[in-house]
Amino acid sequence: MQVAQRLQRIPPYPFREIAMLKAKMIEEGTEPIDLGIGDPDMPTPDFIIEALCQAAHDPDTHPYDESGFGIPEYKQAIADFVQHRFGIDIDPDGEVQSCIGSKEALAHIVWAYIDPGDIVLVPDPAYSVYKVQTSWCGGAAFPMPLLAENDFLPDFDAIPKGVAKAAKMMFLNYPNNPTGAVAPPEFLQEAVKFAHDNELLIVNDAAYVEISFDGYRAHSILEVEGAKDVAIEMHSLSKTFNMTGWRVGWAMGGRQYVEALSKTKSNVDSGTFMAIQRAAIAGLQRYDQWVDTVRSQYQERRDALVEGLNSLGWKLQKPKATFYVWVPIPPNYETSGDFATVLLRDAQVLAIPGSVYGAYGEGFVRMSLTIKGPDKLGQIRQAIDSIRQNVKLEW
Ligand SMILES: Cc1ncc(COP(=O)(O)O)c(C=O)c1O
Repeated sequence: MQVAQRLQRIPPYPFREIAMLKAKMIEEGTEPIDLGIGDPDMPTPDFIIEALCQAAHDPDTHPYDESGFGIPEYKQAIADFVQHRFGIDIDPDGEVQSCIGSKEALAHIVWAYIDPGDIVLVPDPAYSVYKVQTSWCGGAAFPMPLLAENDFLPDFDAIPKGVAKAAKMMFLNYPNNPTGAVAPPEFLQEAVKFAHDNELLIVNDAAYVEISFDGYRAHSILEVEGAKDVAIEMHSLSKTFNMTGWRVGWAMGGRQYVEALSKTKSNVDSGTFMAIQRAAIAGLQRYDQWVDTVRSQYQERRDALVEGLNSLGWKLQKPKATFYVWVPIPPNYETSGDFATVLLRDAQVLAIPGSVYGAYGEGFVRMSLTIKGPDKLGQIRQAIDSIRQNVKLEW
């Protein structure tokens, strides 16, 4: 049986070769240092686990969550949290939607708005979901290159006027995966103005908004005046609270956008387990006591990785946010795939070729600060030593 054309349209997994090489190395007894996967390696904090256990023992949490948008206490906790964190007013009744992680919301907002032929402005490089879902809905993804010379921010003036006018949706993601870039408030203001001028919906992916360093705090696009008219923003507890497997997050923004997302979701899923929503409340309420624990761990690793790479000849700035380091390939390698293959084969260091994230990701590899196994800093230092000894770097 042939799978649907929409599934056939998705290109083969570009990371396959590296994954196969890794599997072969493990089979032959070498465990590479895996800087590939971006998945928190520390446990969910106890206070969230305890809240879950307690909630799971309450039979009231066991049926479907018939509220549709999420239980009132969770929506209220979100409204309180975003007021405290970003200084923004969100009406828990209609401007918030509980989500099964942010990936689900990012996918379903496309289904809510995009018809065949619609144009969606998508950053390149980017998290693959934006483009894949656009394609599944028959839409056309128009790439917005994220270039080093523009601090990995899209240049709205470079988008042809006709394309901007015709576009229905635009994805943004800051702090950014894979580049680690952040967006200054002026950029967010410019984006909201661009959306007003061109009557399009901004979908702002804020999955990494809490993972930031050196005192830097990332912004919500909803801090910009008038943003609710043109924006919906997706948040996640995955990275902030080491909860990727729990699948919990939220969408917030303009009432009509939240309503459209909610209608889509109600025809696909049946919401987040209510006990998990209660556990999420415990997380949001203890945010201030918790968040520096997670930030300081990644900051220490970031420093070790960036300083180590710079000792090998790179001239990297330390990223202000996310748990990724976006590393230009040395000039003696032609493609990011070539360099990633050499890193893995000769130095046993797994990094992801930037081309996986789009054509404009070519020329870079992404190294993640999430590392399985004990002694994370030790593994980073080992990776640097191994690159020094085994990989030819010409500058
Ligand atoms: C940019 C970006 N957005 C969203 C997500 C989805 O995260 P979750 O569905 O766990 O909230 C990820 C996951 O890696 C991501 O990298």
